[in-house]
Amino acid sequence: MGKPIEHSLSPLIHNASFRAMKLDCVYVAFNVEPSSLADALRSLRALRIQGANLTHPYKTEALRFLDEADHDVLVTRSVNTIKNESGVLKGFNTDGYGALRALIDALGDLNGLRIAVVGAGGAGRSLVYRLSMFDCEVYLLNRTLERAKEFVEGLRKTSKAKLYYAGLDDASSISKADVLVNATPIGMTLPGTPVSPRYLKDQLLVFDMVYDPPKTPLLMEAEKRGIKTLNGLLMLVYQAAEAEKLWLGVEPPLDVMFEVAYRACRERATL
Ligand SMILES: NC(=O)c1ccc[n+]([C@@H]2O[C@H](COP(=O)([O-])OP(=O)(O)OC[C@H]3O[C@@H](n4cnc5c(N)ncnc54)[C@H](OP(=O)(O)O)[C@@H]3O)[C@@H](O)[C@H]2O)c1
Repeated sequence: MGKPIEHSLSPLIHNASFRAMKLDCVYVAFNVEPSSLADALRSLRALRIQGANLTHPYKTEALRFLDEADHDVLVTRSVNTIKNESGVLKGFNTDGYGALRALIDALGDLNGLRIAVVGAGGAGRSLVYRLSMFDCEVYLLNRTLERAKEFVEGLRKTSKAKLYYAGLDDASSISKADVLVNATPIGMTLPGTPVSPRYLKDQLLVFDMVYDPPKTPLLMEAEKRGIKTLNGLLMLVYQAAEAEKLWLGVEPPLDVMFEVAYRACRERATL
């Protein structure tokens, strides 16, 4: 459920996975009006739908309609996955997990690293929550400083990582970072780069959660400087697989899911 939803790759990814596992399941995208969100979520119970994903702009709004919520949902105030357990709607967030898995695939051990996450929205907060369990330094940069400050100060009490917050123009936290993550829509629906490319120097990795386009201006700038890059496609697949595990208790075929998502992205990019 989201608005807009037409460009979502999730139906393609989940239905390919269900087919590969020979499951009698179907994943459908619903374009939900803000005034209908409560009814749409209630319908999960009435129609005995196994679960749902929430995407923009409902990840925080939907919290009000949950019966139970996982710890990371309560901390991040962001829910992207709902499981319907006999009429009890339980909320989870698999975005942070997906982003973390993608980072670990690219970098191996995250301990000891300095990681700058740009964007304190649902996806950025969910990743920072996951990173807070590592022995690393995390800088959360946001246009609205207050939003980053509030989240970081709340999370510090339980964080293993050293957490800091800053504005988007904080040159030192970006240029000193080993890893830069974009968790804003800049480069997707908005033009340009989320931070000035002149701060990109010798980072190990620049990770952009955006996957459409597959190569955002930020990733292009990083490539020009010889920095390793990663877009949001792997994160998308990992968060989807984690949602399927929650809904169905299955071990989804990651290779099938990635292949179908990659092909769809490549086709879109060449249109
Ligand atoms: N690959 C995946 O699986 C995956 C999953 C989830 C999200 N994403 C992507 O991650 C991005 C963030 O998603 P989200 O769910 O976290 O969105 P969100 O909750 O709406 O947060 C958006 C963030 O972007 C910032 N922002 C928006 N417009 C900006 C601008 N013009 N200048 C500077 N900052 C701006 C916001 O800052 P303020 O707080 O100042 O408004 C906020 O931090 C999106 O591009 C989304 O597509 C990818």
